[in-house]
Parts: sequence; structure tokens; C-alpha cells
Amino acid sequence: MHKNRFSRIGFILAAAGSAVGLGNIWKFPYITGDNGGGVFVLVYIATVFLIGMSIFIGEVLLGSSTNKNAVTTFETLAPKEKQYWKYTGFTFLTGLLILTFYCVVIAWIFNYIVMSVTALPTSFKESEEIFMSFLKEDIYTQFIYYTLTFIMVAYTISKGVKKGIEKLNNILMPSLIGILVILLIYSIQLDGFMKAVDFMFMPNFDKFHSSSIIVAVGHAFFTLSIGMVTILTYAASLDKNTNIVKASAIVVIMDTVIAIMAGLVIFSITFTAGQEPSKGPGLAFIILPAIFHEMGTIGIFLSLLFFIALAFAAITSAVSIIEPAVMYLVERRNVSRQKATYGVALFAYILGIFVLLSNTSAFSESLTFGSKNLFDWFDFISSAILLPFGGIMIAIFIGYVLDKEILRKAIVPYTGEVFYRIWLFSIKYLAPFAVFVLMLKESGIITLN
Ligand code: TRP
Repeated sequence: MHKNRFSRIGFILAAAGSAVGLGNIWKFPYITGDNGGGVFVLVYIATVFLIGMSIFIGEVLLGSSTNKNAVTTFETLAPKEKQYWKYTGFTFLTGLLILTFYCVVIAWIFNYIVMSVTALPTSFKESEEIFMSFLKEDIYTQFIYYTLTFIMVAYTISKGVKKGIEKLNNILMPSLIGILVILLIYSIQLDGFMKAVDFMFMPNFDKFHSSSIIVAVGHAFFTLSIGMVTILTYAASLDKNTNIVKASAIVVIMDTVIAIMAGLVIFSITFTAGQEPSKGPGLAFIILPAIFHEMGTIGIFLSLLFFIALAFAAITSAVSIIEPAVMYLVERRNVSRQKATYGVALFAYILGIFVLLSNTSAFSESLTFGSKNLFDWFDFISSAILLPFGGIMIAIFIGYVLDKEILRKAIVPYTGEVFYRIWLFSIKYLAPFAVFVLMLKESGIITLN
């Protein structure tokens, strides 16, 4: 076995660590709430498996067939026009944007881990005030936790694939799953549990609009970490002779199951407290903490477990965002792993400080451009434009540029002909079409109700 490569299970945990993040535990429950539950969850599951998984398998295929950084991978595999395709490799830059607001949110999570044991808010009103004043006024605390996050992430990456990334995920991912199982078992005996199950799985067309489909497509990309060569880069450190379809399927299933578990836990607790789930992004940071307080001592434990789970999920994702840029610098620019890591991390760290400040009252004015502050801009540009763009480029590359023999050899032995055809259909037609509509909608060219 190559000394700095993932073991098979190491790859699965690391890729799942990348995929399972804020998207699953924070965002999925609130967009499900906003889009009325039931139908949305079904559409989401369909898009994840039909479109998301196809591209996921595609990224794993590309990375594992060259075992090189993303730029070199596209150069090596493009039969002609290398000089253009190599730029698809640079979509890792999208990740650096995501990393900035991702680490700002991790800083909030650290604050809420501490708050769980010191002082949970005593009412919904107070909870909202606490969150807003933390966000707007408490630059110092945010900055400390934000800095801590970067140190942890950079330290892990500097240790390399085996001793850093694999080791971290081997500890954090099983712990995360353990915590979610405990929370789910607790939720099952709550009065609101059946209501949560109904809400998530009973089709309800009231709040479901055509735009919900677009939300589902966008989230399918975000939640699987596809479209910015992260998965491709992890797969470049995968041992040969891995069944890439099976490994991808396991990761996608884990990602989906964890999102559903998180949804059930959050909605059970929310319904039991007599609250409604359609509370937007504030569900985790405003509604839940107040409910945890109402629950007394057990609430403190639940709060602690919940925010620790959220932190673990987010840190393993943040780590994966840096690796593609680092691998590129190490292989193509002859930089040492240490230097590459600290360079990339420092760049994102400084950029992220502006993102952090753009939420604060002191600086929001100078860091707001048009309708959005920097935090919202970075989120919007990366999730709504750059990620889908990266996804479409990867789909086009695999579906129309890459030699079909390479594809066939990489997929058919593991799955047979039928699966291969469905997969290729998804890559060539479904995925580009879905992403195209998504981009039209996000850019305001078409409006959906
Ligand atoms: N998948 C992550 C989540 O669900 C978010 C994400 C999107 C991401 N693209 C990424 C994480 C690339 C790491 C790398 O929260």
C-alpha cells in the first residue's frame, strides 16, 4: 500500500466527512421546513441519487484514474485542448470562498458549545437577541473561535492524508454517528416524533413550488461536496482496486441518512415544544437553544451533543476544502506540504476575517455590496453559481470529452452494463440540464414560483 494514501474505509470516512457538514445538520432541516417537508424530501432524495451520485462517481473516477491533483488530472485525461480543460481543476478556488463563511459558522458553533454549559437562553425572544448581539457586536469572541478553527484545520492538513485527514475522520465521523444515534433514540420517545416523521415523509404540496426542485438540486451539489474537485482530490489518494461505485454509493447513502436523522431529531424536538419548523436559518441557533433550556438538565446534555455533532461535521468538511489547493501546490509548484498548507490557510483566513466582520454592526456598512453583505455574497456566489458551474464542467468533461473506453473500464466491471448506461445518461443529459436550469433561476433569467 502506498504510504500516503487512504485505506478503503479511510477514504469512505473522509469523503463522508467532507460531504456531511453544515449542509446536513443545519441547512437540510431548515430548507425542508421552508419547503413544507414531505414532497421536498422525496425530490431531494431523488436528485441526490439520480444527479448528485452520478457526478460524485464521476469525480471519484477521475481522481482515482490519475492519482494526481485536479489540474494534472484534467490535463492528463483530456485528449485534446489540455490547456483549456486544466482550468476545470482550478475550481478548487470555489472551496476557498466556501471555507471563509464555513469557518465563521464553526466559530458560532464553538460559542454555542460553551453556551450549552454556561447559559442557554431562557426564551425565544432572548435567544434571538443573544444570537444577534453575538453576531453583530461580539467581534472578539467570534474572532478567537474563528482563529482556533483555522489552526485546527491547517494542523490536520499539514500532517498529510494518512496521519492527518484519515486519522481525524476515523475519530470524528464514528463519534458524530454515535452522537446522532443517541439523539435519535432520545427523540423517538418524544411526543413530537410521529409528527416529525409525518412532516418529513408525508407528501404535502401546499408549500412545495417548482422553485423547491431547484433548491433540491442546488442542495444535492452542496451536500455531496461535488463541483469543486474536492471529491476528485480525495479519490486521487485512494488505493487502486477499489470498487469506486460501491464506495461512492456508501458515501452518498451515509450523507442522506445523516441528513434525515438530523431532520428527525430537530423536528421531533421542535414539534414537542409546540414550535413550527419553518423558521429559516435560525432553527439551529435560535429556536433549538431556547427549547433546550426549557427541557432543564437533559436539555443541557442534548444541546452539548447537538452542537458537538455540528462542530465535528463541519470541521471534517472544512479540512477537505483545503486539500485540493494544497495538493496542487505540492505537485505542481514544488512547495512543501507545510508551506502549501499554511499559505492556503492563511489566505482563506484573512479573506474570512472580512466575511466575519461583514456581519458586525461596526463594519457591515462598508462590507455590504448591493443587497448582500460579504457573508451572503460568498455563500451565494459559491453555492448558486460556482458549484453548479464546476458540476456542469465535470459532467461535460466525462460525458462528452473523455474517452468512453476509460469510462467503460472503470464502471462496467463493478456494476454491469445497465447501471453504466443509466449513469452515463445522467451525466450526459440529466445533470447538465438540471444545473443549467438551476443557473438560469439563480441568475434571475427565469423566475419560478
Ligand atoms: N458538503 C458540505 C456540507 O454539506 C459543504 C460543501 C460543499 C463542501 N462543497 C464542499 C465541503 C467541498 C467540503 C468541500 O456542509
